[in-house]
Amino acid sequence: MNVKTEWGIVGMGVMGTALSRNFARNGIKITLFNRRIKKLEEEVALKKTQLYSELANAQAFEELDQFVFALKAPRKILLMLPAGDPTEDLLEQLGPLLSKGDIVIDAGNSHYQQTEKRSKSFMKKEILFLGIGVSGGEEGALKGPSLMVGGNKEAYEIVKNNLFQIAGKNNKGNPCCAYFGTGGAGHFVKMIHNGIEYAEMQLLAEVISLLHHNNSYEVIQTTLNQWNKTKSKSYLLEITADLLRYYEDELPFVEMIQDTASNKGTGSWATEAGTTLGYSNNLMASALYARYISSFKKERVALAKRFNKKIPLLKASFIQIKRSYDLSRWINHHQGFEMLTLAAKKYGWKLNLYQVASVWAEGCIIKSDLMEFCISLFESEKSLLLSNEFKKLLEQGKDPWKKTLKQAIKSEIPILCMQSAWSYFTALKTNKSTANIIQAQRDYFGAHGFLRIDSESDKLQHGPWH
Ligand code: 6PG
Repeated sequence: MNVKTEWGIVGMGVMGTALSRNFARNGIKITLFNRRIKKLEEEVALKKTQLYSELANAQAFEELDQFVFALKAPRKILLMLPAGDPTEDLLEQLGPLLSKGDIVIDAGNSHYQQTEKRSKSFMKKEILFLGIGVSGGEEGALKGPSLMVGGNKEAYEIVKNNLFQIAGKNNKGNPCCAYFGTGGAGHFVKMIHNGIEYAEMQLLAEVISLLHHNNSYEVIQTTLNQWNKTKSKSYLLEITADLLRYYEDELPFVEMIQDTASNKGTGSWATEAGTTLGYSNNLMASALYARYISSFKKERVALAKRFNKKIPLLKASFIQIKRSYDLSRWINHHQGFEMLTLAAKKYGWKLNLYQVASVWAEGCIIKSDLMEFCISLFESEKSLLLSNEFKKLLEQGKDPWKKTLKQAIKSEIPILCMQSAWSYFTALKTNKSTANIIQAQRDYFGAHGFLRIDSESDKLQHGPWH
């Protein structure tokens, strides 16, 4: 006789399968579901139970009501589906089949505001809803992902021990899993993770473009591997070095890949969130825009033909580029954490940066030595840029950074993220900004008013313009 399980996993794509295997490897009994689409998706869940020994004892379904019936109350149903319509459709079908006290978990990359709405609508039916950001790709999902949880706290208390079992563990041995607040808090944290990820990836692409002017991929690969033995160590640096190792017919494999970048939306959501919060997250934005610009291939080729004449080769030292890269990464991380602080205030979430850095230190795509440093920093301080370590890094790196920017301009190499980091940093350390001129302009054409420096009053004043 088939034994009912409390946990059910919906969606047997790459991530759902890896997560299911992770649950099973940790001794958590699960039941699987994947929809049936004639000729396209047939017996998908069943096939997974035949393919992976860990899943051999799991029951597999492709009828949702049978799947729900096979679960023991209170049911814990985890969805690992593409965000948007697939998740929405499934939740709509699932809702009527559930009972009071059941727990539904959306572990896809859903938009945090959507999660906020879903949380509320399930709450009305007394069904407990969690939105969990899951990072780490297929390998992370299988061996220990980073889990960013938001939603119903009561539900979190019920499932957290199982989540701790499947999560990655940071170097303090703690599970990379934490609860960040109600509604969409978990998905918000995951979205910021992805924003940081976009900029980290773009910075590495820029480093390669700077180095490639004057060096072979082989040399770049060796260089990046050396950097990865220093405090610059990160998962993304490691894999970027590694992917330069592959060749096809003596051509570096990366040269076989079309130079137009795709995206699934989280980078644009993170960029938009900056405007919602009134925050200048310009590295995330630049990384996103670099992807967008890349997709205008025809225009790029036409303009290149017209304008790329006699461009001098860039000859920069490795250490100069490394310092520019390191400093840009600090600005990127600073922006991400600042956004979390602002969002926590706006939405009433109790997330603290120490916890976030702990969850991001293992299992996820942006795990790095810098993230490990953030854990210890955020135990007592709040700002990466006010830390002594940043001061030291800047003392060594400021001139090389400026030199890199100058040389990149001279050699016409687009380095959107490195330049954004510099712009942000110089704007942020300006004690007298240009905003007095903006205020004067606003007042001149629209009588919008301004505050005077010689008055404490918050009453808007007008200038003598007209
Ligand atoms: C992760 C990744 C993962 C996915 C991105 C890709 O943390 O495991 O962020 O969620 O790789 O969503 O996003 P793009 O397709 O937009 O690059």
